[in-house]
Amino acid sequence: MSLFRQTLLFLSQRKELEEFFKHNPLAKQARSRFVAGDTRAEALEVTRKLNEEGFAVTLDYLGEEVTDPEQARAAAEEYAGALEEAAAEELNTGVSVKLSHLGVRIDEQLAFSNLMNIVERAARIDRFVRVDMEGSDLTEVTLKLVRRIRQSTPNIGAVIQSCLRRSDADIACLNREKISVRLVKGAYLEPENIAFQDEEDVTLYYMRLTEALIHSGTRPAFATHDEKLTEFIIDLADIFGLQKSDFEFQMLYGISQDLQKKLLGDRYRVRIYLPYGEDWYGYFMRRLAERPANLWFLLRHWKK
Ligand code: FDA
Repeated sequence: MSLFRQTLLFLSQRKELEEFFKHNPLAKQARSRFVAGDTRAEALEVTRKLNEEGFAVTLDYLGEEVTDPEQARAAAEEYAGALEEAAAEELNTGVSVKLSHLGVRIDEQLAFSNLMNIVERAARIDRFVRVDMEGSDLTEVTLKLVRRIRQSTPNIGAVIQSCLRRSDADIACLNREKISVRLVKGAYLEPENIAFQDEEDVTLYYMRLTEALIHSGTRPAFATHDEKLTEFIIDLADIFGLQKSDFEFQMLYGISQDLQKKLLGDRYRVRIYLPYGEDWYGYFMRRLAERPANLWFLLRHWKK
């Protein structure tokens, strides 16, 4: 992993810098490339437009590392409320939630009941809840809660990161329990003993995990903007005889839009991960870390 990326990922966890960024009008303007807006209304407006183009959506109400139980409950209410409002308007969207936003750092049981609240209300309106995967200190508890809830409600899925060496065992377990997996490369800083550091190793492992998901996964979702990987996934799905509707591609709002449109044009299912809310700093910094050119994009805004 490059020093540049490591530095930005480190800074993404610094509260002092967060305050500076959140109150800087130019940074706020730059973040609009990756974020629908501060409010639910703005997010639903963008969802409507994406749906009209043919994309499905998963809404991410931004927030993480919550330390106040009330804030965690409020986040769960916002998620369930956004889903209910979207369903009333017949929008095609699910949600992506983070356990640290739902209070897992305070108390596992609190996060469990907040997640259950969202999943049960989503089930009533036939909507899907994906639990994002955060840093490796939360991998175990995240998979535990997803598996526990999946026993009673099928509309919940997990995320697996191909940077983590443990991931083939996790996918085997989730496949056995028919839990839908979103496969990603991984966006967090992780130590070498548990995670691949070389980008090529992360990509090779992603390919190996793709095979496991295509062979025996349940409605797998491949989340990547890596065009070569999307070609590999398409070829492998063909070889194993999957229909285009048996899996989906997922991409982040504002990133690789040409590839998003190309896959949609080729009649693959494509879902856009659409963040909204005021707590955009951590998400924004991870996007900068993924691609150095994004930093120049930000600096250009600063100069203007
Ligand atoms: P890679 O980083 O190799 O990028 C391939 C190409 O895509 C680049 O060359 C560039 O053209 C473009 N690109 C990628 N990132 C870009 C950026 N930020 N700005 C501009 N262009 C960019 N991670 C995690 O740890 N937990 C999670 O729950 C999720 N969830 C998630 C959902 C969805 C829908 C997506 C697409 C991704 C995630 N991720 C995630 C993030 C993921 O782990 C990973 O960090 C990014 O997707 C970048 O990896 P790629 O596979 O796109 O490849």
